[in-house]
Amino acid sequence: MVNEIKSSKLSNQYFWKENFETFENEEALKYHYGVTQYPFNFSLYDKLVEKIIDPILSEKKQLQILDAGGGTGKWSVYFAKKGHQVTLIDVAEPMLKVAREVVEKEKLLNKIVIEKGDIVHLSYKDQSYEFVFSDRNPISHCGQKENSYQSIRELYRVLRKDGIIFGCVLNRMRKVAQLAMELDLDRALQLTKEGDLQRGQNDFSHYYLADELKAILLDTGFTDIKIYPTTVFTEFIPNAWLLDEIPLEKLLKLELLARERPDLISYGVRFHFIARKD
Ligand SMILES: C[S@@+](CC[C@H](N)C(=O)[O-])C[C@H]1O[C@@H](n2cnc3c(N)ncnc32)[C@H](O)[C@@H]1O
Repeated sequence: MVNEIKSSKLSNQYFWKENFETFENEEALKYHYGVTQYPFNFSLYDKLVEKIIDPILSEKKQLQILDAGGGTGKWSVYFAKKGHQVTLIDVAEPMLKVAREVVEKEKLLNKIVIEKGDIVHLSYKDQSYEFVFSDRNPISHCGQKENSYQSIRELYRVLRKDGIIFGCVLNRMRKVAQLAMELDLDRALQLTKEGDLQRGQNDFSHYYLADELKAILLDTGFTDIKIYPTTVFTEFIPNAWLLDEIPLEKLLKLELLARERPDLISYGVRFHFIARKD
């Protein structure tokens, strides 16, 4: 089953909340095993995330971690295997179902608590976690601008003093470029304004400008903010998913170089960020 999943291809319209909630089990499993419209989920993309988070995780201390919008549990398992204590929350039952199976299979039930929850309204007490982690856009997918901003405030609230957040949001202008390439010009123009894009019937995602992201993080109270474009070059490769041989090491070097260049920040498909709560 896993091999079948790994060698199949997921339709390219799955990246928003309504779909996660209506995923069939097989789609959630495909997601877990990195079968997406973009390549490199396990190789290049994960390495780019690890470069940012490993210094935080490798301190000797065992951390209390919130995996916010943790999906099928890929990163929760990564944290737990490094000895940390994790709470995974997600709104989508199909994702949680796979997460429960994965955590049981990995024998990590004593390290990972899995709960259904909404990052816009967290039920946890103030300052419950030392590291809040939210990868692959839950902060963007949780609604229009105000909801998305509220999720950032909630993640700040549950973070302890001196705690670190790692987050990931979608980049507005890269999406505008994509819509323009598809000649979907009305939506491209509309997205430039407020940054909200309707994806399903009652489903919106908020796309950020780099300056906007910095401003909301500062306004919420975060300090030491670093924003990284991820990825700049990879998704420009035509049919990259279908190519068997990709020079991964070189591409990784290119993506890491892109992170060092402020003039490339708006080219990232998404923004990864880290910041601290004073
Ligand atoms: C692209 S997946 C990422 C999953 C996981 N973080 C990962 O990196 O594999 C986005 C996840 O965000 C979840 N999500 C969307 N809106 C949410 C909300 N308001 N509260 C909690 N989770 C949400 C979706 O259900 C989905 O599992």
